[in-house]
Amino acid sequence: MTISAQSLQDGIYTAIQAERGAEEYAARCASCHSSDLRGNSNSPSLIGLSFMFIWEGKTLGELFHKMSTEMPTESPGSLSMQSYASILAFILRSNDFPAGDTDLAASADALASIPISSN
Ligand code: HEC
Repeated sequence: MTISAQSLQDGIYTAIQAERGAEEYAARCASCHSSDLRGNSNSPSLIGLSFMFIWEGKTLGELFHKMSTEMPTESPGSLSMQSYASILAFILRSNDFPAGDTDLAASADALASIPISSN
């Protein structure tokens, strides 16, 4: 049996999870990062080249950890781990990474081995 490393291209979240994440995002994150995820002068973009420029080479675990311990800034860590995972699935979908058959894991540890890479 070979154990292959997971990549963002493998479909590591589900479409339903991303849908749930879109609702949570609208309720808890869009006020600062804007509904199209492009941010504004105070809050960084969570989409596209500027986002990948910051996060490429780091891991999905680091991104999950950042979100789940520091966001939303006015009440860090106030969502459930499941909600953070759904929002991360929505962010991945918004960055054009493919959906698949398994939900994205709701823990920074479980995501620590997945590199953020645009290809
Ligand atoms: C009250 C405004 C506000 C809200 C609400 C908010 N954020 Fe943020 N977010 C910020 C600011 C300001 C930064 C930049 C400072 C920092 O990185 O801590 C940031 C940074 C981030 C980053 C790092 C981006 C980067 O490229 O460095 C992520 C990821 C993120 N937020 C996700 C979220 C998610 C997910 C939610 C909803 C659960 C959320 N934020 C809600 C203001 C907000």
